[in-house]
Amino acid sequence: MSMSTSAERDMAAYWDRAGQVWVEHQALLDRIMAPIGEAVVEAASLANGESVLDVGCGAGATTLAAAWRVGPTGRAVGVDISGALVELARRRAGEDGIEGAEFLLADAQTHAFAPSFDAIISRFGVMFFPDPVSAFANLRRALKPGGRLAFAAWRGPEENPLSQIPLRAAAPFLSEPPRFETEGPGRFAFADRDRVRGVLEASGWREIAVAPLDAASPLSFDELLTMSLRVGPLNPILKAADEDMRRKVGEAVATALAPHVREGVATMNSACWLVTAKV
Ligand SMILES: C[S@@+](CC[C@H](N)C(=O)[O-])C[C@H]1O[C@@H](n2cnc3c(N)ncnc32)[C@H](O)[C@@H]1O
Repeated sequence: MSMSTSAERDMAAYWDRAGQVWVEHQALLDRIMAPIGEAVVEAASLANGESVLDVGCGAGATTLAAAWRVGPTGRAVGVDISGALVELARRRAGEDGIEGAEFLLADAQTHAFAPSFDAIISRFGVMFFPDPVSAFANLRRALKPGGRLAFAAWRGPEENPLSQIPLRAAAPFLSEPPRFETEGPGRFAFADRDRVRGVLEASGWREIAVAPLDAASPLSFDELLTMSLRVGPLNPILKAADEDMRRKVGEAVATALAPHVREGVATMNSACWLVTAKV
């Protein structure tokens, strides 16, 4: 029988809901994050015939990219805790006819992986562990000797201003404005470079490198509003709010974002860390 803590159950429940939102906006999210996925796959130096594990694979874009790299003699396994996203990832792999891509519905912090992988990759899928040291120790055990790790995680909210502007604009209307955690599990859990390094050292990784990675994606104003109101932390709040509140927050967010749009186009700068390490 598997035992889970309340923090683990909270995260699973959170991603059950957030996973639905990601399914709905998968095409837009994949487009914005495409350069980051490419950088992660590149950093993992995947070779033909290798086995790769994609942690918190979501709708599977990076798993499928990795499956291309390792070819039909290789194996790419995406693991995710959200049933809705694993289902979508399986469907996409089938539609693309990609051989060698598999998806596993499991908690990567605790799942007993066979030590069968040459590399582990992740695009923004490793910041949500309630116990990151034990999670990264668990992931380390999934690698063969000489195995390597490459993942992307967000730098701080102050370096990702488009994530903050909507929250600040909405705050006056909300009784409990959402806060971004930079210590506990969550999007910005690895914002502090020293913390990332500390977690990896404590879980036994070597040759750790944490390098800045910046990517710029053009968005239409509508797409920026979708990201701000429907994808991020405002989504559950606005879903629960009444019509009047939704309208007020929508207007305030649009007004605050308008100066960041030129000729109908906003540039979303994603400020991240590209982290690599070896077993
Ligand atoms: C920000 S999304 C990134 C999804 C995907 N990597 C991408 O780039 O499109 C984070 C993902 O991590 C997954 N996740 C969170 N905690 C997890 C855990 N303990 N085990 C496996 N997946 C987890 C979520 O369900 C979600 O799909």
